[in-house]
Amino acid sequence: MIICRTKQEVQSLMGDWRGEGRSIGVVPTMGALHEGHLSLMDIAARQCDRTVATIFVNPLQFAPHEDFDAYPRDLEGDGAALSDRGCDALFAPDRSALFPADFSTNISVAGVGENHCAVARPHFFDGVATIVAKLLLILRPDAAVFGEKDFQQLAVIRRMVRDLDIDVRILGGPIVREADGLAMSSRNQYLSAEERAIAPALFRTIREAGETISAPGARWDDVCERATKAIIAAGFSSVDYVNFVDASTLDPLERAGPEGRILAAARLGETRLIDNIAVAPVRAA
Ligand code: PAF
Repeated sequence: MIICRTKQEVQSLMGDWRGEGRSIGVVPTMGALHEGHLSLMDIAARQCDRTVATIFVNPLQFAPHEDFDAYPRDLEGDGAALSDRGCDALFAPDRSALFPADFSTNISVAGVGENHCAVARPHFFDGVATIVAKLLLILRPDAAVFGEKDFQQLAVIRRMVRDLDIDVRILGGPIVREADGLAMSSRNQYLSAEERAIAPALFRTIREAGETISAPGARWDDVCERATKAIIAAGFSSVDYVNFVDASTLDPLERAGPEGRILAAARLGETRLIDNIAVAPVRAA
């Protein structure tokens, strides 16, 4: 696996590959890789001739009180995992390699970038959109793969790419779960043993909510109230939101109809966990 630390290095490599007629698939990450990320590498490898992972803990998407400094970093372990998985190149710039000292641009995606996670993390999606635009413009890949675990992030990136005419195919990869249902996340490392035992309740609850809202006559207000209570009863400290939305617009739904998604975020001690689940569309009788 080729490791690039600067824009010039990675752009020269991309230029060589494009010159050979190879298609390029990229998986942007912040490192602390787990099977969820590696499954995205597999998708990139199936779709493209050459694969690139990026690792950059992006300061733009963390608020001052959030876990930027504490965010797990293990470049050596991540590099080994990527290489074992057959990744062709890793782009791991440091901050100064990506940002001029007076960097001053911000990309903000209205609509899908509002509500849900944006309520508790108002800077988050601007930071994501800005760094992802930069990475796509530096690498100019044919495809970029993002996990559906961050469902709203995926919607923001799709919208940004469409609105700005960035010539790349955005692919979503299904959520990878632990045996007990907990969605894999780099932040699961923060959980104590006791919290780890409680954590799968988030998925169990939204899965049940998905079944309940699919039943004829069910209304989201009632299902949401029950789900929120169940998450707290399981031992979570607080619930940021449990929302039922149209899967493509992320607008709220009152009852099952178009293809839906239940999105949820809840706090377990200091750790904020997110998860989501698909709700199948209701066919007209
Ligand atoms: O999902 C992530 O790891 C990050 O938000 C991303 C897309 C790499 C942007 O920093």
